[in-house]
Amino acid sequence: MAAVHLNNMTKVYDGADEPAVDSLDLEIDDGEFLVLVGPSGCGKSTALRMIAGLEFITGGTVSIGETVVNDIPPKDRDIAMVFQNYALYPHMTVARNLDYPLRIAKVGTDEINSRVASIARTLQLTELLERKPSQLSGGQRQRVAMGRALIRRPAVFLMDEPLSNLDAKLRVSMRSEIARIQRDLDVTTVYVTHDQVEAMTMGDRVVVLNGGHLQQVAPPEELYNKPANVFVAGFIGSPAMNLWSSTFVNADNNAGTIAMGQQTLAVPPEIVSDLNLSRYHNKELTVGIRPDDLHDAEADMVLSDSSKTSTVKAKITLREALGSEVICHFDAGVERVMIDDPDLQDVVGGEDGPTPDFVGRFAPSSDAQAGQTRSIQFDVSRLHFFDNETGLRVTVS
Ligand SMILES: Nc1ncnc2c1ncn2[C@@H]1O[C@H](COP(=O)(O)OP(=O)(O)OP(=O)(O)O)[C@@H](O)[C@H]1O
Ligand SMILES: [Mg+2]
Repeated sequence: MAAVHLNNMTKVYDGADEPAVDSLDLEIDDGEFLVLVGPSGCGKSTALRMIAGLEFITGGTVSIGETVVNDIPPKDRDIAMVFQNYALYPHMTVARNLDYPLRIAKVGTDEINSRVASIARTLQLTELLERKPSQLSGGQRQRVAMGRALIRRPAVFLMDEPLSNLDAKLRVSMRSEIARIQRDLDVTTVYVTHDQVEAMTMGDRVVVLNGGHLQQVAPPEELYNKPANVFVAGFIGSPAMNLWSSTFVNADNNAGTIAMGQQTLAVPPEIVSDLNLSRYHNKELTVGIRPDDLHDAEADMVLSDSSKTSTVKAKITLREALGSEVICHFDAGVERVMIDDPDLQDVVGGEDGPTPDFVGRFAPSSDAQAGQTRSIQFDVSRLHFFDNETGLRVTVS
């Protein structure tokens, strides 16, 4: 077991103009489950491969425990790695697949038997030890691949999108399996995914990368409730946070307003004073609100505390009834700000597609229909504000 320390870790591929990973600084605690997440091409695999020793480090250092490992080959780093495309030996039983790394390392038979029994118990493979890989389900095969990586008891366990070849249902169950196994073994783990649900449900802390740059590292709730910048705000959460740029007006006694086309949203005075928003008087701010914090004011389940709410009228453009909730798209009279994320652009119709409408996640009792003009209640106590010049979250200064 060991902590991992990345100090200004940088990778510039030969011939590339921009670093794939740029000055990444991270302290990964001993036993921590850290997830790297971000859109395709943001540098997740490159970062992981530098920790593993599979990629030459252009700048900075990687330390495992007390040792700088930049020049130490992968096999001597005391790490194990599982990739998206793991391969088991098809002609060997599960037991032989599991103990293969120990046999190579000439570990004694008794020790091998006891470690196979132990890892098989942890991974719930005991009943399957005599089967061949072809006789296993996808999830079982995945567990064998993990077992084979973990049986050497590495100090650090690295996983790069290990679930992306599994079907949706199996991914969900493997998510909690992997989290449980990691807790049981208490091994320092770095897990790469582009799936933010995996990131949020599995990680002790989550690192958001974009374009090779660290955006934020924080526990999942903090990432969700206090995104550090516009990118994280738009990337974490599904449906994505509604973000738009609007003029903030500070009236007397800290009564703030946000323009929404011809209408305005009231910002509670305590938020205006807490965040010192008066410095943005008559300036543009990027404002965000999550779909969960929007309510159909004409259905029940609305918030009754009027100090926390502000209502605007908007035209419903699409209703998606999902049973436990109703997702409504509406035209709020302002253009949404979209973050530059190819994964999201698939969802919203590509780079040239129309700017999507606002999205609200309403209670199932909402009967809002496309084409109607409806009152939409904003829980203004849960607005997010970002500086338009820096893109950073507005916090107390
Ligand atoms: N061997 C390589 N040579 C040159 N450029 C590379 C190489 N591998 C990756 N890159 C580039 O480095 C950047 C980061 O790639 P990386 O594979 O780390 O992204 P990723 O976050 O893992 O993406 P994905 O989610 O698609 O797996 C990309 O711009 C990619 O094109
Ligand atoms: Mg990758």
